[in-house]
Amino acid sequence: MMNKLKTVLKVLLVILVVIQFIRPKANNSYDNSNLITNKFETPDNVMKSLQTSCFDCHSNGTVYPWYSKVQPVAWWLDDHINEGKREVNFSEFASYSPRRQFKKFTEIINQIKENEMPLSSYTLIHQDAKLAQDQKDAIIQWAKSCQEKMKLEYPIDSLQKKKG
Ligand code: HEC
Repeated sequence: MMNKLKTVLKVLLVILVVIQFIRPKANNSYDNSNLITNKFETPDNVMKSLQTSCFDCHSNGTVYPWYSKVQPVAWWLDDHINEGKREVNFSEFASYSPRRQFKKFTEIINQIKENEMPLSSYTLIHQDAKLAQDQKDAIIQWAKSCQEKMKLEYPIDSLQKKKG
């Protein structure tokens, strides 16, 4: 019994050591050639909130904490980053189609209103990423004003599907 347990523990230890060498590719190209601000005027305070609270998972530049180098944590973080970037990538936002941009602004407003973003698993460690009410209001107001500007620039049915 004891011997079996030892063998199992040894195998686990080897696995743990081996996976340390299998690292996901870091999200640090910092390619901002299609940054959201290229197309949408963004006040400094809003940009700062987005950078602090969203960019680690929604841009081409993640600031990695030390524990992100430890497996399997790195895979777990990488998953969030890839999924987050697939949904919204502020570094590439300016290259999205107008329809997608418009939709993403709606989603941003909803996520902030419902306190879904930033993820609570993230704010647990990144306390500074928690948004105060005035920061939330500023992001929502900015997203709405971007949508209003788009409505002036594009026919509405190129931005939104007709309801009903
Ligand atoms: C720790 C990583 C992380 C942070 C930080 C983060 N997000 Fe996300 N975000 C995700 C992941 C993962 C998804 C996709 C899965 C989901 O919807 O939960 C997502 C999805 C989204 C979506 C699409 C949701 C939908 O409608 O389906 C929006 C919009 C969004 N995030 C906005 C933001 C904004 C704005 C911030 C900052 C205030 C932020 N996120 C911070 C990881 C993150």
